[in-house]
Amino acid sequence: MTAATIPGLDQAPTTHQRLLTWVRQVAELTTPEKVVWCDGSAEEWRTLTDKLVDAGTFVRLEKKFNSFWCASDPNDVARVEERTFICSRDEADAGPTNNWMDPVDMKVVMTEHYRGSMAGRTMYVIPFCMGPLTAEKPMLGVEITDSEYVVVSMHIMTRMGTKALALFGEDAEFVRCLHSVGAPLKPGQKDVPWPCDTTKYITQFPEERMIWSYGSGYGGNALLGKKCYSLRIASVIARQEGWLAEHMLILKLTSPEQRVHYIAAAFPSSCGKTNLAMLEPSIPGWKVETLGDDIAWMRFGEDGRLYAVNPENGFFGVAPGTGWKTNPNAMRTLYQGNSIFTNVALTDDGDVWWEGYSEAPPDHLTTWKREHWTLASDEFTSHPNSRYCTPIAQCPITAPEWDDPNGVPISAIFFGGRRATTIPLVVESRDWQHGVFLGATLSSETTAAATGQVGVVRRDPMAMLPFIGYHAGDYFQHWIDTGKHADTAKLPKIFYVNWFRRGEDGRFLWPGFSENARVLKWAIERIEGHGTAFHTAIGYVPGASALDLDGLDTPIEDIQAALKVDHDEWQAEIPLIEQWFATIGDKLPSSLHDELEALKHRLA
Ligand code: GDP
Ligand code: PGA
Ligand code: MN
Ligand code: MN
Repeated sequence: MTAATIPGLDQAPTTHQRLLTWVRQVAELTTPEKVVWCDGSAEEWRTLTDKLVDAGTFVRLEKKFNSFWCASDPNDVARVEERTFICSRDEADAGPTNNWMDPVDMKVVMTEHYRGSMAGRTMYVIPFCMGPLTAEKPMLGVEITDSEYVVVSMHIMTRMGTKALALFGEDAEFVRCLHSVGAPLKPGQKDVPWPCDTTKYITQFPEERMIWSYGSGYGGNALLGKKCYSLRIASVIARQEGWLAEHMLILKLTSPEQRVHYIAAAFPSSCGKTNLAMLEPSIPGWKVETLGDDIAWMRFGEDGRLYAVNPENGFFGVAPGTGWKTNPNAMRTLYQGNSIFTNVALTDDGDVWWEGYSEAPPDHLTTWKREHWTLASDEFTSHPNSRYCTPIAQCPITAPEWDDPNGVPISAIFFGGRRATTIPLVVESRDWQHGVFLGATLSSETTAAATGQVGVVRRDPMAMLPFIGYHAGDYFQHWIDTGKHADTAKLPKIFYVNWFRRGEDGRFLWPGFSENARVLKWAIERIEGHGTAFHTAIGYVPGASALDLDGLDTPIEDIQAALKVDHDEWQAEIPLIEQWFATIGDKLPSSLHDELEALKHRLA
């Protein structure tokens, strides 16, 4: 079939020549059965969700309005970091934390995968905008995909369709995002519920601001506005333009005295961002509202403060562990409906369930592997990286300013990870440069959010290890420079937290979740100049008496153990930090090396 005869190709609702040319080229290469230009309408959602139900990909939920259960291929459940590439022209502009391949070579390889890859399928063209549509310079993209699951997920996660395309005009810049599940259909061949390929590539071409993704349908690999655009490509743009694109939640904290602070926090995937963003504080009078749970774009405002915007339009949250006790605001959001649940369990009466959803599971479930499950089964019902996808706007505690193109002024940045030892509950950095050091040496146990072994401690700088779109050493320098160009007094204070320190028997020392409000309160007291702290070798750490522990029934010994700066543990940490810095090579900023030497000196 020649492109001219592909139905739909010529029904483009735009006169943007570069967009039209690119769409035609992709259609000629991938040879879909037809082309659909997405408008983002409720009718489009209805048509595509019906199609997904007919295909067996979705089950419409009886118990949640306009919501769907979905089970992926068991081998396509998470981001694939070893298959993720930064294809900068110069190898020195990538690595050592990401995979590099020459862009010309990569295009040769991937072009052969894309050739005919959409045969028998519909090719969807999704214009979208990351961040508010009303931004002075809207951040536009177009995702071409052969997956209906991707289209409906993009309905939730991005501002897309007609309202985004209206911003393209004749020649606006946009990020080209090409996605194929890599499962062409021969004439008459029956489709599977979750098409994908065993070969996968998640490729960023930073100089061309282009993304090519092949072989996976999983969110982080396939919803290209999210990690690929808003972190990997945006971090490159941010460096050039003097701003920050970070793996951070954004929350609004109001004190009993009605003082407002906005906090951004970077934790690795599956380490508590979504939960903190929707926190229901355990301490009276404090209020949290949410603006974002995964990504923050931060620029200096005219007043010299750092302002954050969430580029996303939805939450793509970890399901297991989400329940009325841990994250009631997520539950309230999901009870509004309009959500997609992937790789959780399905109840017999048409609802979802996962570990932690409620205290007692129903007697019978269909697991994420589509198998029968009863109370006698000892398998998990849901994949540990199972996800819900739901609109931000329907979260009951979404801050009204979440869609403000100017963003919100950030008072504090939290870095955090999942560490059983060493890292205390909270540390306040000595200054910006020391805060950058804390972020650059952030470590965390790996989780199910990426394929590979779980529970292995690795460095995850600023929780951006899988998402930095350029060289990590240059990225650290950019963070240092960001502080230098700013008015020090107006910079956010940087803190480092660890909700996951454990006692000898493996229990968590800190109760976490709603109790994390106590740590936020202390941080605000520090910012406002009246909180107390010990000046330790690693930074300012509160004693147990500096925290508001009113009404908390955790044993005081546990809290002290959670706060402890253990010299032996830190002595053991130093060589790990040295090894990590050695992997960065010549591009490690000398100021971070100085910070390490100063830390060693203070520990001695
Ligand atoms: P995200 O991927 O960074 O957004 O992390 P989530 O907020 O989705 O949390 C990931 C997992 O960590 C879930 O299973 C949560 O239940 C769990 N979690 C989140 N916050 C805490 C906490 O404060 N303490 C403990 N122990 N677990 C938490
Ligand atoms: P998470 O987002 O950070 O909420 O886990 C998805 C991911 O990082 O893969
Ligand atoms: Mn994330
Ligand atoms: Mn999350």
